[in-house]
Amino acid sequence: MSLNLKGRHLLTLKDYSPREIDYLLDESTRLKQLKYDGVFPKSMQDKNIALIFEKPSTRTRCAFVVACVDEGAHPEYLGKNDIQMGKKESVADTARVLGRMFDGIQFRGFEHSTVEELAQYAGVPVWNGLTDSYHPTQVLADLLTVREQFGDLKGRKLVYAGDGRNNVANSLLVGCAKMGVDFVITAPESLFPDNELVETAQEYARMSGSSIDITTDATKAVKNADAIYTDVWVSMGEEDQPGMQERVESLAPYQVNAGLMAATGRNDSIFMHCLPAVHDNEVTSEVFESRASVVFDEAENRVHTIKAVMVSSL
Ligand code: CP
Ligand code: NVA
Repeated sequence: MSLNLKGRHLLTLKDYSPREIDYLLDESTRLKQLKYDGVFPKSMQDKNIALIFEKPSTRTRCAFVVACVDEGAHPEYLGKNDIQMGKKESVADTARVLGRMFDGIQFRGFEHSTVEELAQYAGVPVWNGLTDSYHPTQVLADLLTVREQFGDLKGRKLVYAGDGRNNVANSLLVGCAKMGVDFVITAPESLFPDNELVETAQEYARMSGSSIDITTDATKAVKNADAIYTDVWVSMGEEDQPGMQERVESLAPYQVNAGLMAATGRNDSIFMHCLPAVHDNEVTSEVFESRASVVFDEAENRVHTIKAVMVSSL
């Protein structure tokens, strides 16, 4: 399938049609195989890529760096103490400066409006490497992983257990709904996703023929699930906010443990996590280390999917 994504930003998966997401997943598979074969087409030769990080990162940072180097580009890491953005210099000014020097910009940080403003002013593609609201490059890697495990996406059932209103849950809502994956969030009511986003996802789901459910009943939720997914109970930047101890207690019934995995009623369900994981909080070490766990496939797939996003938009 050929498709032109040149010049496109990736702020959330809402910006991409199912066909475009499918194309990015196909490209990821193609680039992954080339890398396994030791072939590097260097399709980003002489490009310069800015990597802005307001929050820490292992996978996203390393995936962008490795993908750049594989394809012949130069990545430049700009940590929160390295540049003036948001302190002595506005986001709009920083965007225009970096846009004159770089061919693409990755942003990881707090406010989603920052990545939107960067995209508005940079004049080059801007990719969201995680904000408080969305984590689209993660979900591309997750969709690729599900597709690799089961051969397809349509009609698969993915259940997310845990903090149902964080960036990963939000992006899974959008990505699964668009790609025809039946998606369930099971969480305490206080951590249900935003209504407006659920309605948007339901609209996508109607078009793709999938379903979206939000429920407090974890055991019922996971019945017949192809995949159970979880993420940390306290996200980056929330650690010092009030009410976190109460949140952690309210999430205890949503821990992914052997009992919850068994409640799928299947022996081929997989366990997914974007990582980093807090072992024995949101997932037991037993499940994390079990044969069902595909967490390191997801981590590796960050490189191939991020590479596909950069190569396609440049
Ligand atoms: N999953 C993920 O985004 O990991 P990092 O925070 O290490 O980048
Ligand atoms: N929800 C987590 C995801 C980390 C990749 C966080 O924002 O900390």
